[in-house]
Amino acid sequence: MLNGKKVLFSGMQATGTLTLGNYLGALKNWIELADEYECFYSVVDMHSITVRQEPSELRKKARNLMALYIAAGLDPEDNCIYYQSHVSGHAELAWILNCFTYVGELNRMTQFKDKARKHADNINAGLYTYPVLMAADILLYQADVVPVGIDQMQHLEITRDIAGRFNAIYGDVFTIPEPYIGKQGAKIMSLQDPSKKMSKSDENPNASIYLLDDPDTVMRKFKRAVTDSEACIAYNDEQPGVKNLLDIYCAATNTSIDDALKEFEGQGYGQLKEAVGESVIAILKPLQQRFNEILADKDYLDNIIKTNAERAQTASLKTLRKVQKKVGFPERVR
Ligand code: TRP
Repeated sequence: MLNGKKVLFSGMQATGTLTLGNYLGALKNWIELADEYECFYSVVDMHSITVRQEPSELRKKARNLMALYIAAGLDPEDNCIYYQSHVSGHAELAWILNCFTYVGELNRMTQFKDKARKHADNINAGLYTYPVLMAADILLYQADVVPVGIDQMQHLEITRDIAGRFNAIYGDVFTIPEPYIGKQGAKIMSLQDPSKKMSKSDENPNASIYLLDDPDTVMRKFKRAVTDSEACIAYNDEQPGVKNLLDIYCAATNTSIDDALKEFEGQGYGQLKEAVGESVIAILKPLQQRFNEILADKDYLDNIIKTNAERAQTASLKTLRKVQKKVGFPERVR
């Protein structure tokens, strides 16, 4: 608990550009969470360097991500949006937790195995202990809930195991985090292969709508979206491409599937695609305008970065000091 509210923590990588799937599936639904939770959203730049990054690119993407979150509607006063690397406790707690994590546990992490295969020339120790840093992120703020996708569930599980192990030795130090199961956002699939989720790491740029795509690009991608030869607008699993377009339309316009089906009755896929494209452009236009305004106002954004890092630092320090004391580090002389 913090300020009388439960704590929610989420981390996001600045690599890759946020997609419409990230927005309709997650971000858009996070806006209201600040009423109920004390929310921390960390741009996890320390995780990013587990694979090689171009330094100036990483810096730029991290700043863009910060601005995009704010542009998407996350109020930086109600939500603590900050850079992981600006809060020293993440690395400090990660070290301690490394000493409470077994190599056998880390060996089971499927994401490590995947990434090791993908980056065979750089299987570094950071990639291996990535889940421990993630555990530190979450536990540092005594998070009650963590909104994670299925791909990060194993990392949340190991976080719970590490926290439980630590608590069993030293008493109730850490809150054991739960996955956040609240109002679910829309699940948006790839425009090129509707059996796959729309992903910012997809190699085919036509598969995803990026939040910073211009209107022409958005429309072009929707026009190229994979459908089927049924030539009938219906909502079912046999027509996953059309289903996905309808899901996007409904999420973008806050329409129910039934109403959308009525609206498109008797129409062709061309018209559907056009309407979906328009509905998405209507969302992205103001978002991009805010994004550009925020980036242009250097002082405004810098000030948010500074004050939120301070807030995060203050919130995290309490846990860090407690943990340091528990494991036997000497008390600081005041
Ligand atoms: N590993 C997460 C991802 O790639 C990002 C992340 C880092 C995270 N720390 C976290 C997510 C803490 C939730 C909580 O998506």
